[in-house]
Amino acid sequence: MSRWNVYVTNEIPKPALDMLEEFCDMEVNRTGKVLEKSVLLEKVKGRDAVLSLLTDPIDAEVMDAAKGAKIFANYAVGFNNIDIPAATERGIMVSNTPGVLTDTTAEMAWALLFSTARRVVESDKYSRMGKYEGWGPMLFLGQQVMNKTVGVIGAGRIGLSFAKRAKAFDMKVLYSDVAANPEFEKEADGQYVSLETLLQESDFVSVHTPLLPETHHLLGEREFKLMKNTAILINTSRGPVVNEAALVKALQTGEIWGAGLDVYEFEPEFAPGLLELDNAIVCPHIASATFETRTKMGIIAVTNILAAMRGELPPTCLNP
Ligand code: DGY
Repeated sequence: MSRWNVYVTNEIPKPALDMLEEFCDMEVNRTGKVLEKSVLLEKVKGRDAVLSLLTDPIDAEVMDAAKGAKIFANYAVGFNNIDIPAATERGIMVSNTPGVLTDTTAEMAWALLFSTARRVVESDKYSRMGKYEGWGPMLFLGQQVMNKTVGVIGAGRIGLSFAKRAKAFDMKVLYSDVAANPEFEKEADGQYVSLETLLQESDFVSVHTPLLPETHHLLGEREFKLMKNTAILINTSRGPVVNEAALVKALQTGEIWGAGLDVYEFEPEFAPGLLELDNAIVCPHIASATFETRTKMGIIAVTNILAAMRGELPPTCLNP
């Protein structure tokens, strides 16, 4: 079997690159920066496979430039950056990295929830600025988490992993999705409600839905008005699920109390005004960023490429 020629659009953990290098010739973008589209179009030429990131827009133009490529192995569970119908039309396989980042992402959602509710980032900044002059009864009052209601939008793998942990804090779980999910109800003791009810009754709302045409701007001005003024929004899924300008307004006016964000509508840009808000935590899309998970994601992406090279169906192919 001849060695494949693979382009890797950004550096990923070494064990995955070592595994790829054992069987394939590879070139890796080691600049640490997202490739300009024009560079990407050049770099994919003549490759058998491309290991892409969620920041690479893999559209028909890129696929045509990569003429002859058999697979785009995306280093993410999300694949909204890839035009799957265009790939299928061209006989190109697309794969993702499901499963291994489920708990890691859920963990980050909880980290954001607690940090926002208890003003961890804001108060840390305050201490570092030399402002702490002693214990105060009114210093950085936040929202209690235990015994409250958490609303989970999207009852897939990550939503379920997140919701299961709510039991530990004696919380009531509501969830909404396109249909009820018996597994979610059994494992997370979640109650299926409409999105409206979820927004009205939840103290914390955590978004776990993929970005689809139907979920674009699922939350906007109207939805923030439905939420409690003490509510906190957590988003670790995809930025465009939330209308970010409307979110900034809701945070500025006190329509909602806070937001813990890992994803943004126009990454890496932030909506005007967002960074000035003390009631928002703004992490740079790191929900899956643990040493363990990022390595596993790389191994899955490489495993998909190697399977395709052997003429087998890649284990997590999205368009078999
Ligand atoms: C994904 O995989 O889709 C996450 O957003 C990044 O790990």
